[in-house]
Amino acid sequence: MRSITTDPATNILQRHRFELSATLILAHAFLPKSDANLRVYLAAMIASGVYEFCQVLDTGGQCAHGKAFTAILVLIRLARVIDGIGNSSPPRARCTWQLLTPSADFVRGLRLYTGGHLAPHWRHHMPDKTPRVSAAMEGRGAYNRHAAIPASGGASALPHWEKAVLSVPLGNANRPVVIADYGSSQGKNSCAPVQIAINALRSRLGQTRPIMVHHIDIPANDFNALFEVLETDPGRYAADDPQVFSSAIARSFYETVLPAEQVDLGWSAYSAMWPSRVPSLIPGHFCVLGSTGSIRVEFERQFAHDWETFLTLRSAELRFGGRLVVVVPTFDGNGRSGFEDFMDHGNAVLASMVEEHAITADERKNMVLGAGPRSKNDLIAPFAANGHFRGLTVEHCETAEIADPAWDDYRRDGDREAVACRQAAFFRSTFAPTLALALTTAHDHQRVQGFSERLEQGLRHRMARDPAPVHSLAATIVLAKR
Ligand SMILES: C[S@@+](CC[C@H](N)C(=O)[O-])C[C@H]1O[C@@H](n2cnc3c(N)ncnc32)[C@H](O)[C@@H]1O
Repeated sequence: MRSITTDPATNILQRHRFELSATLILAHAFLPKSDANLRVYLAAMIASGVYEFCQVLDTGGQCAHGKAFTAILVLIRLARVIDGIGNSSPPRARCTWQLLTPSADFVRGLRLYTGGHLAPHWRHHMPDKTPRVSAAMEGRGAYNRHAAIPASGGASALPHWEKAVLSVPLGNANRPVVIADYGSSQGKNSCAPVQIAINALRSRLGQTRPIMVHHIDIPANDFNALFEVLETDPGRYAADDPQVFSSAIARSFYETVLPAEQVDLGWSAYSAMWPSRVPSLIPGHFCVLGSTGSIRVEFERQFAHDWETFLTLRSAELRFGGRLVVVVPTFDGNGRSGFEDFMDHGNAVLASMVEEHAITADERKNMVLGAGPRSKNDLIAPFAANGHFRGLTVEHCETAEIADPAWDDYRRDGDREAVACRQAAFFRSTFAPTLALALTTAHDHQRVQGFSERLEQGLRHRMARDPAPVHSLAATIVLAKR
């Protein structure tokens, strides 16, 4: 990675011989506001002649948007030069541009600045318009700090993931190998799988072939925390590999997030069970695990629909021979996931919050956590008829028991407060933001903070009284595109 300033297109062309498309990431929000330079991530790709598509990503920071205009304009000029077309036509290059939470002013300014030539094949991604069925994980890196259970779940899939990386066809071309991480959250739990993939790819390809890693999550995700992990975390991947290029894509994975047939390897851990919509409220509970009868059936139908959508979209994005590895929480043979008691504690705390007037009964009623474990049968259902679905086949599907690291420590040190603290913090960082969407003042940061703190505190007290493990299970499915 390196920084470049916004040289005019012609200068850049003189310095580097290349063809479009380039990948350009503007991580404004990640930069010190005083930074006058455009820190253009992946600019090294320009020099190395690796261009798949153009993606401009502005994280909606408060830095001068003029810098982004300039960078986009440079790319458009470049595209025109390479396409050999005049100023009056938009470039033909395969381009997408994505803006995270751009202001209306920014979008207006961009249109003016670029002469309105972004349409039609420059895709304009506006702020999240999907119904707010679930929120992103708690920000400021909170999820990164407390997601030890998903980390254990993801770890159970790593041997299958490594095998998939070692068997995926990569061709001889010098094109970059593309890894997509669907539902990355703040990135900490993605480091291990991505590093394993990079190691396995390097053992096959040597050091020079570029590897692109796209981390995908909803626009509300804390991408700053993700970039911080990629830059500074001791466990970050590819710390010393200059041919690894990371980017973030802020779009729901229930939409197309990457161009067709670009992805060699897809990874998705503890994410594909978050639904695209919540079909119903859940009387007496907030969690799908606490639903019964026709309401449970509605959620099952929604999950089945979402899973097929997810597979269809991922299949289109995969190259032929590409692999997709998905890990989700699952059930044991008795239909238990290990999260039931945990969720019941949450339900009891919410009930006491109503009694204390910390939340209203209506707010409580509107709280729904649509994410729920998926059975092995759910995962393989689309393949049941003839063994394949949208060009994908199942290479492997298995379940594994997942340790609760907080409980393992408790067994050693007997510290009830500590185990309850860690379990409550996991609950808060993962689920509280979604529950807070039901607050009538969900936009009020202080109220949301107060709600989350009270919920966490209640959970801590309850769980310290009678400590118990969250011994859950994870299902891993390995899919190949034929
Ligand atoms: C529990 S976290 C898992 C994060 C990480 N992969 C891990 O293993 O810890 C689930 C993530 O999926 C994301 N997610 C949920 N629905 C999504 C959607 N429709 N599109 C993209 N990401 C989504 C959430 O925002 C969240 O960051």
